[in-house]
Amino acid sequence: MKKIVVAYSGGLDTSVIIKWLQTKYGAEIIAFTADIGQKENPSALEKKAIATGAKKFYFKDLKREFIDDYVFPSLKGSALYEGKYPLATALSRPLIAKNMVEVAKREKADALAHGCTGKGNDQVRFELAFKSLAPEMEIIAPVREWEFKSREEEIEYARKHKIPVDVTKKKPYSIDWNLWGISIECGLLEDPWQQPPEDAYQLTCSPLKAPTTPQHIDIEFYKGIPIKLNGKSLPDISLISELNEIGAKHGVGRIDMLENRLIGIKSREIYEAPAAVILHTAHAELEKLVLERELYHFKNIISQKYSELIYYGYWFSDFRKCIESFIDETQKHVTGTVRIKLYKGQCVAVGRKSPYSLYQEDLATYTDRDIFDHKASKGFIDIFGLPLILEGKRNRKTGWTKDK
Ligand code: ARG
Repeated sequence: MKKIVVAYSGGLDTSVIIKWLQTKYGAEIIAFTADIGQKENPSALEKKAIATGAKKFYFKDLKREFIDDYVFPSLKGSALYEGKYPLATALSRPLIAKNMVEVAKREKADALAHGCTGKGNDQVRFELAFKSLAPEMEIIAPVREWEFKSREEEIEYARKHKIPVDVTKKKPYSIDWNLWGISIECGLLEDPWQQPPEDAYQLTCSPLKAPTTPQHIDIEFYKGIPIKLNGKSLPDISLISELNEIGAKHGVGRIDMLENRLIGIKSREIYEAPAAVILHTAHAELEKLVLERELYHFKNIISQKYSELIYYGYWFSDFRKCIESFIDETQKHVTGTVRIKLYKGQCVAVGRKSPYSLYQEDLATYTDRDIFDHKASKGFIDIFGLPLILEGKRNRKTGWTKDK
């Protein structure tokens, strides 16, 4: 192995990885960090990476690409894993992996490395992306292989090799942060019976301390994509950042989740995703207004599958592209505005309108403006119920009755 590109975060694990790889393989190490809105200081990271032993450091601003090519498609597809998790971490992995492959090719590197553990989903996501984009490259997952049995042993190794590590503020949580949300695990959260302690939350205000007056916001969508906030056009990154801020202030976006990991175990994690929760709520509401019933129901089935494939790391697959073509077709009428009320941790749609609305008030009303043909329902029920009439007749003959 001559050159290895490492996914670098600046934390203890990835710092130790640089030294460990260098020692084990005698290779040149290139550290790669993606900016996806986690608020890193690039020059401080570069200094640290180089001081730790990296030959070169790449810092790439991928925020735009993340939102346009990963986050918004997932929003259009209503991708919420197990109905709840907006997939912030899962969506970021293929993007980081793709950019690492590009750097590796440019640098003529022969291996790619990441700092994921052997029992998470992220190792799968990184490696499936590496394998689909650059099957010829070697993959190294040091944390899965190395000899350290505890954080203390890792710190000891770091000290021995003069790796600058910040162990003063030892946080009990493992945190992954980007524009679409924060994933938090470990510490007290590992006990699924324990309510998440307030200090686990990184961004959102406690609903108990949130403003006592609700705030209403209007979100306008064009073909499934949010384009305006309160009537003002905003570039995608600002729109998401602003929604994160507004939602966080109202304690919106906290998700306490017990989830099924791909490798088979169940884990308890929490998420903070104010913008994602607000946008998914608004988008889903608009779809209810404009999608025909059967299409709406079928899209929900597709969304479940879509969220699973993202969670499982199947991003670079024909399967995803095929599902997304279907989803894109469903979004052509998802244009309109949804009014959202934010109040003490709650995020609810309280108004919706669209030029493509299928809602017809004169059909829905119970007043004298009603134009619905009530009498026609008799014939409809007769024919819709025909299979049950036939089945009932037969069962009475054979002695099997449904009410038993
Ligand atoms: N369970 C989530 C997922 O698989 C989040 C993992 C986040 N990683 C972390 N270091 N907190 O997408």
